[in-house]
Order: sequence, then C-alpha cells, then structure tokens
Amino acid sequence: MRRKLAAGNWKMNGLNATLAELSALAAEHPDTGVDLLICPPATLIAPARAALAGSPLQIGGQDCHAETSGAYTGDLSAMMLRDAGASAVILGHSERRASHRETSEEVRLKANTAQAAGLMSVVCLGESRFQREATNTLDIIGAQLSLSVPDSSTGENLVVAYEPVWAIGSGLTPTPEQIGEVHTFMRARLEHRFGPGIGRSVRLLYGGSVKAENAAEIFAIPDVDGALVGGASLKASDFSPIIEALEAA
Ligand code: 13P
Repeated sequence: MRRKLAAGNWKMNGLNATLAELSALAAEHPDTGVDLLICPPATLIAPARAALAGSPLQIGGQDCHAETSGAYTGDLSAMMLRDAGASAVILGHSERRASHRETSEEVRLKANTAQAAGLMSVVCLGESRFQREATNTLDIIGAQLSLSVPDSSTGENLVVAYEPVWAIGSGLTPTPEQIGEVHTFMRARLEHRFGPGIGRSVRLLYGGSVKAENAAEIFAIPDVDGALVGGASLKASDFSPIIEALEAA
C-alpha cells in the first residue's frame, strides 16, 4: 500500500550542466512503478523542473526556513521552493543539524511550514557513531522522531529517512538487523502517535552509503520503503541500478 520511493540528495553538488544526468535518469525510467525524487541545490530546482516537463520524476529542496517570509537574508521559504517547482523538501539532514546547529524542534517547525505550503517533508534522523556506542540508539531515534515530526503529518506529506551519521559518505552501512530494528521501532512509534492508518502510510527510507551493490539487501528489510541516496544519486548510471533494485523489491 505504500509506494516505494527512491530519493536522491545532491547536497552542494550540481551545475546546469549536471541536469543532463536528470534527463538521462528520466529517460531510463519513463513509467517506473516507484516514486522518484531528486533534491538538487535550490539553484537547479526551476531548470530541473523545466528539463523534466512531462516526467513523473519529482524535484525537491534540501532545506527551508520555518517562517513563511521576512528578513532572513540568504534563506528560502517553503513557498519559494514550491513556486520554483519543488514538491518536497529534505529537512533535518544530519549535515544541517551539525553545521547549522539545527535542533529537532526547529526541524519540526520547518516541516510544519513545508507541509502547510504543500511540500512533502523528508525528515531525516539518525544516531552518531558515539551515540550508537555509548547510549541506546533507539532512545536517540525515538527522541528525534517525536520532536522532529509535526502533528499535521500524514502519509502524503511526511517521509522519514533513517540516516545513521556514521554511515553517510563513509562506505559503512549498518547490518540488515540494525536497520530493521530502527525501522520497526519507527513504524511502531508512528502508529502509536498517529494511529494505524497514518502510522502505516508514512514511508520510511534508509540512507547512508546506499549503492547498487547493497541496495537489494537493504530493500528486502521489512519497513524499508526506499532510500535517500547521496553520492550514488549524482550520476544516472549509479542511481539507475538502485531504482531497479527498488522496483524488484
Ligand atoms: P551517501 O549516500 O553519500 O552516503 O549520503 C547519504 C545522505 O546523506 C543522503 O541524504
């Protein structure tokens, strides 16, 4: 009942010339049975949308401000992303939690604003290496989940991405048991908070060093509804086999 989702986070990578990768990706998967989302830098949202006219591939932002407008030099509002052609936005990525000191409370305010603007929020959470070794990972995940996700969430406007900080860009991935433990836990917490209807409809993505070689194993884990992919989403030739593994899951 949940549509699978392959999402790409380009982070601070990509110029106009890189849009050729998007066009190639769209051409390779014209009527895929899974949802496809690419979140390029904000400068490429409008040109990406234009280059993809007619394609079901969705475009998203990587962050937005919690306020709808105002004196916030350099920031972007959710409605600006929407206006540029985005249908989703990544919020609370660990790189922003670290380098911009974003708290879960701020992430929730941003998600609230994004959902009100009609954007699907891809809320990211995950434990650091230190937290996994020194404390109970599920306590960390539980706190981040309850604080980062707004009450207005539904299966349409919320996706949760579990991205262990130590697995991002490192080539390391948790074991299937470790991923399964966190995803089963997140599902139970969402069902408890929102009821089984909404709780079971929210898609849960895994992110952190997903590649063609490990995608099938990850997608076979219960309650993994897709992936949020960094490095391997930059090239169509790397992302396509991941999409194919999701289609086959
Ligand atoms: P990598 O796939 O490069 O590890 O990045 C994951 C990520 O941070 C996606 O948001």
